[in-house]
Amino acid sequence: MGQPPPWLWDLPLVDLYSVDIIGFMYDVPFVATPEVVVRRMLQLARVRPGEVLYDLGSGDGRIVIAAAKEFGARAFGVEIRKDLYEQSTARIKDLGLSDKAAIINASFYEVPLTDADVITMYLLTTVNERLKPKLEKELRPATRVVTHDFEVPGWRPVVVEEVYEEWRSHKLYLYKIPGKEIPIPGKVRAVEDRWLGQVAQHIDGAASLEEIATKLGVTIRQVREALEELRKLGVVEEVKIIK
Ligand SMILES: C[S@@+](CC[C@H](N)C(=O)[O-])C[C@H]1O[C@@H](n2cnc3c(N)ncnc32)[C@H](O)[C@@H]1O
Repeated sequence: MGQPPPWLWDLPLVDLYSVDIIGFMYDVPFVATPEVVVRRMLQLARVRPGEVLYDLGSGDGRIVIAAAKEFGARAFGVEIRKDLYEQSTARIKDLGLSDKAAIINASFYEVPLTDADVITMYLLTTVNERLKPKLEKELRPATRVVTHDFEVPGWRPVVVEEVYEEWRSHKLYLYKIPGKEIPIPGKVRAVEDRWLGQVAQHIDGAASLEEIATKLGVTIRQVREALEELRKLGVVEEVKIIK
């Protein structure tokens, strides 16, 4: 008898019973994250309304749907299988979520992720390892990455949590992309708009987007959008990215 393929041991044992055969043609078979674990992943990542989330390998779309419906995110799934893409897209439409959620029928290696605030993944350690250079290159500082059961080798998680669900426990890893985005003041000082003025007050060439967002109680995305306006007005010269 030949040796089993090495990736077989990478799968959660118990899920082997429910694994689909077509799935083995791709990097990772379709195994759904239980709903209670989905919710916990999104809570751990602190997904907030208006934030952009990508679920890499979105399966039946449950993470994308929960992120849009319950957390108010703009959520995208990337799913290579046409049948799962069609099924999850139909579900999104039936739920009336098409303005907030969408599935992209492609390989996650091919889809740009620069706009993400949050990434979720239920893949395999070997696949996470292959995705790592792309994530490191494209994701902005302070982007949150939550993985279910499989680590990103070499990254240090901010939180590791065990979630118990019916008959097995699930391990969740929360990572935060290191580095800072720092807005550098421009020559113009005065701003009429109240909200832009509030953001401008915190721009000193040292405070990061994340720090400004925390002080103002808003999302990094909201600060980034304001900075784009402030850059046009000459209040911000540039946003330095320190990785
Ligand atoms: C373990 S399932 C996770 C499904 C969903 N994210 C969840 O947690 O319920 C992994 C999914 O990744 C998809 N997949 C595998 N390789 C892929 C690739 N290269 N690009 C996009 N999707 C892929 C599979 O078809 C499968 O639906």
